[in-house]
Amino acid sequence: MTATSSPAEDTPVFPSLRLGIAGLGTVGCGVIRQLQQQAPLLSSRAGRTLTVTAISARDRRKERGLDLKDFRWHDDPLDLVHDEEVDCILELIGGAEGTARNLVETALRAGKPVITANKALIALHGDHLTRLSQSTQTPLLFEASVAGGIPAIKLMREGLAGDTIKALGGILNGTCNYILSTMEETGRDFDDVLKEAQESGFAEAEPSTDIDGWDTAHKLAILAGIACKPVIFDSLTVEGIRHITAHDLEFARKLGYRVKLLGMVRHHAKGDSVEAWVRPCLIARDTKLAHVNGVFNALTWEGTYSGPMTISGRGAGEGPTATAVIADIIDLARGNHLSLWGRVTKTEPVRTCPVEALHSSFYLRLLVDDTPGVIADISAVLRDQGVSVHLIAQHDATEQRAYLTVITHPVANSAIINAATHLKALSSVHGAPLIITIESLS
Ligand code: HSE
Repeated sequence: MTATSSPAEDTPVFPSLRLGIAGLGTVGCGVIRQLQQQAPLLSSRAGRTLTVTAISARDRRKERGLDLKDFRWHDDPLDLVHDEEVDCILELIGGAEGTARNLVETALRAGKPVITANKALIALHGDHLTRLSQSTQTPLLFEASVAGGIPAIKLMREGLAGDTIKALGGILNGTCNYILSTMEETGRDFDDVLKEAQESGFAEAEPSTDIDGWDTAHKLAILAGIACKPVIFDSLTVEGIRHITAHDLEFARKLGYRVKLLGMVRHHAKGDSVEAWVRPCLIARDTKLAHVNGVFNALTWEGTYSGPMTISGRGAGEGPTATAVIADIIDLARGNHLSLWGRVTKTEPVRTCPVEALHSSFYLRLLVDDTPGVIADISAVLRDQGVSVHLIAQHDATEQRAYLTVITHPVANSAIINAATHLKALSSVHGAPLIITIESLS
């Protein structure tokens, strides 16, 4: 049979899907722009035309480079829920509480589907929102909440639905990856690179959500909920990158590693427990994640049956994030509705295992007096705490002092913390030793 196409076949037969957008920042404006620029293609994929009918934002008069006069304006985003010409709410305001949460909950209670890019909201209130969405049979979609243009949620909830995920880890924050990559490339220190990143718009003026690991943690909690089990957000161990120096990046490179801020989830079959944390890690230079630089994000999965898989791409910005929102709009238009965590049975959120109990190799960096006997003293502490050394290297700091870097054999996190406490008390050790986990995800 020869495929033919006629105007009648090309015309969507279902009514238009009418969208109400709350929040006209970078993502909200991007969604409007991309819907306009690709209208025939998107309606052909959705089987319906996709029409923005109403909008709401804080400042009506702000210049956004878009003609908004065809859309009905609501000062109060909650009015979008009661607008009869809105079939679906796009919550693009952000924040785990306040207006965004109120809007999403009100819409779900009213049976109006919601699409959101709000990672903090899903990470902190995913369990409650799942109940709401299930009890009212109302779709809640959130592809844009994790890793911008990388279809991470779709890949896991649909593509990997047939596999048991043993582990997943990734670079989920472009700001941190940009800072660490630039520090390594240029040898400049953290504060200097952060300041420049803020001046050039790569980093937020208030950077702590990114650089202290919270943005990564929000995304990780969502991924853990789908890959493994929903987790209690407050039980995650979260550590950022403020304390990483250009020296550490250089020492790590010399030892065959790179430093990345990773979010990791592992399912421990024995005990059926979940490991989930955000920490700067040393990863071997020959791994795929080690080659992901600048603002790029990446994720690696270890599937029981599908094996390892890595995907990288742009994790933020207008184009990538708006594309993820539009993928959700098309899913909704097609009638695809998956439960929030991708499973029908209800799983209560669990506490993650304490990192102190986890085993791995570690990088330990110390500033010490460059005098006889210092390595013997340090070795004695490591011996007493049951820490076995794989490699020790010295890097000159000043005429009297040197940096020592130690790579350990796998050991409990609690043992390395105890060792660092005892090392800090030695008179030949200056300042607090730095501990960085060595992550072996391939
Ligand atoms: N601020 C994030 C980042 C993007 O730097 O990757 C939005 O989550």
